[in-house]
Amino acid sequence: MKMNDQWWKKSVVYQIYPRSFMDSNGDGIGDLQGIIQKLDYLKLLGVDVIWLSPVYDSPNDDNGYDIRNYQAIMKEFGTMGEFDQLLTEIHKRGLKVIMDLVVNHTSDEHEWFVESKKSKDNPYRDYYIWREEPNNWGSVFSGSAWEHDETTNEYYLHLFSKKQPDLNWENPKLRQEVYQMMKFWLDKGIDGFRMDVINFISKHPDLPDGVKDEQQQYGDGSPYFMNGPRIHEFLHEMNQEVLSKSPVMTVGEMPGASPEDAIQYTDPNREEVNMIFTFEHMDLDSAPGGKWNLKPLYLPDLKENLAKWQTALHNKGWNSLYWNNHDQPRIVSRFGDDQDYRVESAKMLATCLHFMQGTPYIYQGEEIGMTNVKFDCLEDYRDIETINMYHERKSLGNSHEDIMNSIYTKGRDNARTPIQWDDSENGGFTSGKPWIQVNPRYKEINVKAALEDPNSIFYFYQKLIALRRELDIIVEGSFQLLLKDHPEIFAYERKWQDDHLIVLCNFSSSEIVIDEEDLLSKMQEYQVVISNYEQGNKGTLRPYEAIVLRK
Ligand code: GLC
Ligand code: CA
Repeated sequence: MKMNDQWWKKSVVYQIYPRSFMDSNGDGIGDLQGIIQKLDYLKLLGVDVIWLSPVYDSPNDDNGYDIRNYQAIMKEFGTMGEFDQLLTEIHKRGLKVIMDLVVNHTSDEHEWFVESKKSKDNPYRDYYIWREEPNNWGSVFSGSAWEHDETTNEYYLHLFSKKQPDLNWENPKLRQEVYQMMKFWLDKGIDGFRMDVINFISKHPDLPDGVKDEQQQYGDGSPYFMNGPRIHEFLHEMNQEVLSKSPVMTVGEMPGASPEDAIQYTDPNREEVNMIFTFEHMDLDSAPGGKWNLKPLYLPDLKENLAKWQTALHNKGWNSLYWNNHDQPRIVSRFGDDQDYRVESAKMLATCLHFMQGTPYIYQGEEIGMTNVKFDCLEDYRDIETINMYHERKSLGNSHEDIMNSIYTKGRDNARTPIQWDDSENGGFTSGKPWIQVNPRYKEINVKAALEDPNSIFYFYQKLIALRRELDIIVEGSFQLLLKDHPEIFAYERKWQDDHLIVLCNFSSSEIVIDEEDLLSKMQEYQVVISNYEQGNKGTLRPYEAIVLRK
């Protein structure tokens, strides 16, 4: 691979969740014209690439991650003509765009599935996974992973909702259809793909039951579908047939992938994908039994985990760097302090991530420090995962308060409230009634206020992005964790040729005294590259202080 084919190594990506980004026509739903209106804002931020969450035709059981037609635009978002216009406007500004590729499953309303259901000998039957008897797997969205279908009296597999039947990648015809569809979008000129749960596409052919303990209703099928037996073969094939033809960028969403898996997926010589999204650092505040079982983050776990990925992939593969996306709660509420130190902690978290090696992803609203929400009742929530989980846990005897508390802390709708553009009604997102309530803090936290304040989180992100372009060490340097066991400080150094960076981040609301002689003297001697406080006493770190030093 030629170096200029690796443009994504130097890029910063901004994720747009179109439904919640900007509504241009007052129907309460974000749309393509809304995105076009805000491209100059993204240009000002300085990002290189936009990742568009799905904009394809969909009945929206899972907000577009259930695709009915891969080659049509969702009516609520606009038309194919408007998509072409968006693409032109993006490229005109020197930006790139990657599209969501959701091919582990389709919608049950996709014509392939409509056909597949009709009879056991339908030509599309084998596009999906049908069995006479279900196994014991549970769905990610609660309940069984199998749905009975009356027409042929068989069950189909759906790892997500029952309106998201899993595709059968064992079928070479299906694979060719997917590759043709990918070419359709690449021929239009898009710059790559973010691949939805792509390491789930190869299932163990026997679909064995998963382990389950006494209290559990369903078994854990993940050992039989995560990083499955033919996954590397399928990704390599996709690469050879489609991706290798042009210098595109690819990132695979891969729950359950270890650094060793990641090296296999991203080693350029293996020609699979450029980078993956790991989930390990996002699981550290969950107790056994999954994300809804809350546990406070213990900072040394996070340090150890991210350091492990940084060092394992250095010179072998490539990391993605993220705190947020449309599935995760807001980072400033999660690992920071969204009350007393919202601005400081948002900048600290950004610093901690953006000085690592890899391609950083910024999720819409992160750049202004948007926070989690607490809606009063379940009826205010829209996310299928949240709603299904609520009913399941209620039926198992959990209290309303406990379940709501999990939703407040981990629910996906935390990330999906509309972008707060200004302090007018509905945060300026829509002139109509938004599809999901706006975060009530919009009067205080919004884009307009951020742009008017030179010390805002927005301008801090702008600076971080610019620094990545200026300093090769951020892209290329090695990584070494410092103060490994310190319970409040996340510190590391980067080295590249004669260049040297030290990054110090205080994850607590206390002032921490640095008593390491060596570090103290470097704090005196080195230049400050960026910091979230006015300069002052260099022997301590103030609440949520972040400082980057260079020699
Ligand atoms: C991915 C998406 C998530 C979606 C799921 C099923 O995890 O990020 O939003 O619900 O896959 O497509
Ligand atoms: Ca709209």
